[in-house]
Amino acid sequence: KMQYSICALPGDGIGPEIVREARKVLEKIADLEGFSLKFTEKAFGGAAIDLYGEPLPEDTLEACKASEAVLMGSIGGKVGVSPWYSLPVEKRPEAGLLSLRKQLGLFCNLRPAKLYKELRDACPLKEEIIGDGFDIMMIRELTGGLYFGKRSITEENGEEVARDELIYRAHEIERIGRIAFSLAKARGGKLCSVDKANVLDSSRLWRKIFTKLGEEEKEVELRHALVDSTAMELVRNPRNFSVIVTENMFGDILSDEMAEIAGSLGMLPSASLGENAFGLYEPSGGSAPDIAGQNIANPLATILSAAMLLEISLGEKKAAARVENAVEKVLALGGRTKDIFSGKEGEKLLSCSEMGDFVVAQL
Ligand code: NAD
Ligand code: IPM
Ligand code: MN
Repeated sequence: KMQYSICALPGDGIGPEIVREARKVLEKIADLEGFSLKFTEKAFGGAAIDLYGEPLPEDTLEACKASEAVLMGSIGGKVGVSPWYSLPVEKRPEAGLLSLRKQLGLFCNLRPAKLYKELRDACPLKEEIIGDGFDIMMIRELTGGLYFGKRSITEENGEEVARDELIYRAHEIERIGRIAFSLAKARGGKLCSVDKANVLDSSRLWRKIFTKLGEEEKEVELRHALVDSTAMELVRNPRNFSVIVTENMFGDILSDEMAEIAGSLGMLPSASLGENAFGLYEPSGGSAPDIAGQNIANPLATILSAAMLLEISLGEKKAAARVENAVEKVLALGGRTKDIFSGKEGEKLLSCSEMGDFVVAQL
C-alpha cells in the first residue's frame, strides 16, 4: 500500500476551516483508492507569529521539505488592522508565504478558472457572453518580479520616498515560458502571454523571450496582449482565452478577476510547482477575515486544490478525477455555500463543513 506524506498548513482566518474539509476529502479518497496519507500539521502565517514570533518557523519549512506535497489554507489578517501589521514587513504573515514559495523553488503557479455549467447563475457575466462556458488555465510566474525585488522607504528632500524594484532575469522568464508552451500544447495549442511591453523593460524582455520560444514551438499559436486590455477582455470575452501566462503581480490581479467570473474566489484552486513533482496547493483567495470563524466559507477551491495535489504531486490520477467528479456532482445536486448561492429553486445553502461532507458523500 502506498503511503504519502503531506504537510498541512491551515494558517489564518478561514484557512483552518477550509483545510479541515479538504483533509476529510483526501482521507476518504485515500481509503477508497487504497493508499494512505500521513498528515503533519504545522503553524504558518499569523498563527505561527502568535506561537513563535515568526510567520515561517524553521520547523514548518523542514516539515514541508520532508513531505511529498503541502496543503495550505491561507494566511494573513485584516491588513493594517490586525496587530500582525505593526511588525516589520519581513515578520508579517505574507512574508512567510513569499519566503516559503522562494525557499521551496515554487516558481510556477497554476490557477485554473473553469466556469462549471451548474454555476452559471453565480457568474456575473451576461448569458450571451458566457455561451457554453470557459475553462482558462492561468500560469503565474511566482518567484520573481515586484514581489522579490529590493524595497525601501527613504527620506529625500524632506519627504518619504518608497521604492519597489521590478526585476526579471532571462532564465526566470524562459523556464516559466517552457512550461507555458508545453501546457498550451496539451490544452488546444493556444497561448496568450500577458505583459506591459509598451511601458516596462521587464515586459520587453519577457516578450522577446516568449517570441523566441514561439519560433521554436511552431505548434503553439502564441499571442501577446497587454495586461490592461486583458483585464477588459476577460470580462468581455472570456472564451477567447485558453492558456494565459504572465508575471507575478499581473497574475495575482488577473487571477482574482478570473475567479469572480468563474463564480467565486472560493472556487479557484491553485498549484505552486517547481522543477519536480513536489508542490504546494492552496486556494487562490485569502484568509477572508470578513467571514472567518463562521463556518460559511466555500471549501471547494481547497478541495479542488487537493485534487491537483493528488494528480500532480502524488500521481494518483484516478483519485484526482474522482474528487473533481464529486465536486461537479455536488454542484449539480444544488449544493451551494453562501458565495455561490443564487436562491434558485433546487439550490441548497450549505455551511463550510456541510459542503465538505457533501463532497465526501459523493465520492
Ligand atoms: P480575500 O481573498 O481573503 O477575500 C476577498 C473576498 O473574497 C472576501 O469578501 C472574502 O470573504 C471572499 N472569499 C475569499 N475566499 C472565500 C471562500 N473560500 N469562500 C467564500 N468567500 C471567500 O482577500 P482580502 O480580504 O483582500 O485579504 C485578506 C487577507 O488574506 C490579507 O491578509 C491578505 O494578505 C491575505 N491573502 C492571503 C492569501 C494566501 O494565503 N494565499 C491570498 C490572498 C490574500
Ligand atoms: C495570492 C496572495 C499572495 C500573493 C499574498 C498573500 C502574498 O494574494 O496567493 O494570490 O500576492 O501572491
Ligand atoms: Mn492574490
